[in-house]
Amino acid sequence: MNIHAQAAICRGNTEPFRIEDVVLDDLRPDELRIRVVACGICHTDLAVRDEQLPVPLPVVLGHEGAGIVEAVGSDVTVAAPGDRVVMSFNSCGHCPSCAVDAPTYCYEFFPHNWSGTRADGSATLYRDGKPVNANFFGQSSFATQAIAHQRNVVKVPASAADIPLERLAPIGCGLMTGAGAVLRAMKVRAGLPIAVFGAGTVGIAAIMAAKIAGADPIIAVDVHESRLALARELGATHSFNAREDAVGKIRELCPQGLGYAFDTTGINTVIQGAWGLLAPMGICGIVGASDPAAQLTFNEAEFMGGGRRVMGILGGDSDLVTFLPELIEHHIAGRFPFERLIRYFEFDEINEAIEASESGEVVKPVLRIGTE
Ligand SMILES: NC(=O)c1ccc[n+]([C@@H]2O[C@H](COP(=O)([O-])OP(=O)(O)OC[C@H]3O[C@@H](n4cnc5c(N)ncnc54)[C@H](O)[C@@H]3O)[C@@H](O)[C@H]2O)c1
Ligand SMILES: [Zn+2]
Ligand SMILES: [Zn+2]
Repeated sequence: MNIHAQAAICRGNTEPFRIEDVVLDDLRPDELRIRVVACGICHTDLAVRDEQLPVPLPVVLGHEGAGIVEAVGSDVTVAAPGDRVVMSFNSCGHCPSCAVDAPTYCYEFFPHNWSGTRADGSATLYRDGKPVNANFFGQSSFATQAIAHQRNVVKVPASAADIPLERLAPIGCGLMTGAGAVLRAMKVRAGLPIAVFGAGTVGIAAIMAAKIAGADPIIAVDVHESRLALARELGATHSFNAREDAVGKIRELCPQGLGYAFDTTGINTVIQGAWGLLAPMGICGIVGASDPAAQLTFNEAEFMGGGRRVMGILGGDSDLVTFLPELIEHHIAGRFPFERLIRYFEFDEINEAIEASESGEVVKPVLRIGTE
């Protein structure tokens, strides 16, 4: 236990994140130590800060890390020291979901991602000799070094050797979630209409993926005009401001109803409005972090009658090993230009980066933590 690092500690929403000295635990056989080059900031980090998710505080967050492998445990086969990698969520590898390559629905998701420790309860980080909550999404990448696991590390393919890691960093969460929701979970069909509620990272990733899938029309809904403009540049054929009767305007545009309504806002009234727009066999996909007490209400006859579906989606149903390289190939081919969402900040500007995300000014802030 002698690897010293710097990590941004989150103590809730009444204090700013502070970068402090920490010490990493020794690596287990299935773990890797990554020198973090960059890490995206996601709404889920802020949901933890605001105690909407059951992750214990204080904690080192950050779950969109990319970096270079420094050391590996004896059982690690996914990458070797010196390899460029991206990190994503962790999973157990042996439950019924993991057994069918659906690790986002791992039965042991909580202990592997949100418990603040390894799944066996041991700490991965220490501060002043005492354990600090970390191992967030199996990485805690708001830090100069991170302990990750065989199952949540993907080696960057050789075809992406020219793409900087700081650009690839956010691919393992919001981008994968939006794209996977469209391409993997809802399996959007060409020629059918889709509306995406919320044009943040997840929503815009869904819009870019809907264009890849050939959906038509592709409708973006948000409250920020700047985000709607960006959504139109990246694939939306129409956009409506949620403050100006977006639901009524979508009904006028698509009188037969939507094939797909995808909600990234987590607001139950928005989801219910979106659901009400579905055509027969329509799917309403929901991904947003919501008020833990929120309930959804649907009319039973409409739900059953048209074979409509409501689908909770985690991590875009992604199987990391196959889907992250697939998304990187879409990016290389220019079909998934997510660099348009990014603005870079230095690591010690983490609080400014969060502020820029919350004001709506920046869609995807990425922290530059180390050099490549
Ligand atoms: N399920 C998952 O696997 C998963 C993965 C990543 C993120 N998330 C969650 O998904 C959500 C979206 O993430 P993000 O990073 O894109 O966040 P974001 O905050 O960038 O995007 C949300 C967007 O919704 C817009 N919005 C707010 N109120 C609205 C309304 N009434 N109608 C329409 N749009 C409205 C906001 O302006 C914003 O642009 C978050 O809640 C995040 O925690 C879930
Ligand atoms: Zn995230
Ligand atoms: Zn599992």
